Amino acid sequence: MQTPAGTVLVCDDPAQACRLAADRIASAIASTRADRGRAVLGLATGSTPIPVYADLVARHRAGQLSFANVTTYNLDEYYPIAPLDPNSYHAFMYKHLFQHVDLPPHRAHILDGTVPEAFAAEHCAAFDRWIEADGGIDLQLLGIGRNGHIGFNEPSDLPLDQALRLPTRLTRLDPVTIADAARDFGGSEAAVPRRALTLGTATILAARSILILAFGANKAEAVARAVFGPRTAQLPASLLQTVPEKVTWLIDRAAAARL
Ligand code: PGA
Repeated sequence: MQTPAGTVLVCDDPAQACRLAADRIASAIASTRADRGRAVLGLATGSTPIPVYADLVARHRAGQLSFANVTTYNLDEYYPIAPLDPNSYHAFMYKHLFQHVDLPPHRAHILDGTVPEAFAAEHCAAFDRWIEADGGIDLQLLGIGRNGHIGFNEPSDLPLDQALRLPTRLTRLDPVTIADAARDFGGSEAAVPRRALTLGTATILAARSILILAFGANKAEAVARAVFGPRTAQLPASLLQTVPEKVTWLIDRAAAARL
């Protein structure tokens, strides 16, 4: 289905959507490697993409997929957090993907949750410069929060032009995000870091293609508002309406229920 926010593919279930996402990632790696010798992926964390990574690992183990000429940049990281903290997105990526594949460790970039606060802005600006120096992101994988966040770009009152230009930065988590993250922190909202480092909207929207996944009834409202609602900073995923030609949504029937 063509929509104001891109092409929406409604799948029978999350497993089918994740298989299709893995197909897209594998072909993006193959085609950009053929074009320019390497591929740059923007990776997401959260419960949604776990089966995508499992599928990519299976393809690698079957000898069908190599990450040898791949560079990755992760969307976000809690702040502050140590990389060895099991709840860090560093730990997530090593657990679900990096330790299982041939991605050169020096090309797997994740924002550093240990950076001293006085240097956070410089660290984030450097992350944007590294991405640019690597030729930009070929394919950005995204999830969507119940509040419509992408990465940790949370709902805000910013005017649209500013909301579209946000760089990678240190940001404050929305109460809905903290509530949803609590399940990973022993069910305790108090244990969830209040801030995070996130790729900015400008960086995300500059990717050459964007694959966004959403599963389950609790995402249906955010998906419908992102796809057909007004383009607004109140619902950051609606900003994808700025670049619909680059965006593919892979969602299950439950997440499509309000479309
Ligand atoms: P989830 O998070 O995959 O854990 O639902 C998605 C997101 O918040 O982007």
